[in-house]
Amino acid sequence: MSGPQAPTGRIIRADGLAHRFAGTATLFQGLSFVLSPGDVLGVCGPSGCGKSTLLSILAGWERPAVGTLTMTGIERTGCVFQNPYGVPRRSAIDHVAFPLLTKGLSRRTAEARARETMALFGLTDVEDRPFRALSGGEAQRLMLARAVTSAPDLLLVDEPTAQLDIRTAHTVNATLGGIAASGAIVVIATHDPDTRAACTRVIDMPDYAPATEAVAS
Ligand SMILES: Nc1ncnc2c1ncn2[C@@H]1O[C@H](COP(=O)(O)OP(=O)(O)OP(=O)(O)O)[C@@H](O)[C@H]1O
Ligand SMILES: [Mg+2]
Repeated sequence: MSGPQAPTGRIIRADGLAHRFAGTATLFQGLSFVLSPGDVLGVCGPSGCGKSTLLSILAGWERPAVGTLTMTGIERTGCVFQNPYGVPRRSAIDHVAFPLLTKGLSRRTAEARARETMALFGLTDVEDRPFRALSGGEAQRLMLARAVTSAPDLLLVDEPTAQLDIRTAHTVNATLGGIAASGAIVVIATHDPDTRAACTRVIDMPDYAPATEAVAS
């Protein structure tokens, strides 16, 4: 479902992607997909199969060894990493409001908008707590709130529910779906069956692993 404000033509096309790093075997090959606003793509598979690598390629940090990636109408990409990081002494709300202040919003407006997004992720009670005092799951949701506040066209999220209980994970999954429904493309690397079920499409990375080569003994 595309939101009313989603510009037509926002699209990501991956054609025949393959990747390996120096020193690794080919992680995946022949990976093709088309993503448009409203899509929530789950990238699934065991540890080490290349989920984070695919996110890095979509973020433009890594060039695919083979294949082409075409992004049209993607101006802002938001990324949420596997390990939350923040400024230990700064308050949670500062982490979310700061990117808005750098865009020129007043502190009052930036904080109001930060509060709205933090509420979506169940963070209202920890707004004023310093980052170092947040639990792992709160810190992870704070990073999501920060990425979402800047209204990205493409949101890349690595293992968003790894540190969350089932109920909180469910809220996060629903919120990510809502963000896509309002016109973004969301890509989530995950092991979590509930997150997988919340995705509109799934790529199982092992389906794109090269056939195992015979090991010389
Ligand atoms: N910059 C790099 N240079 C060399 N090897 C790398 C690099 N980045 C990742 N790798 C290797 O590529 C493989 C895939 O890594 P990746 O981080 O994409 O896995 P993943 O599916 O996200 O795993 P996890 O579920 O543990 O997060 C791993 O074996 C990893 O060690
Ligand atoms: Mg990973």
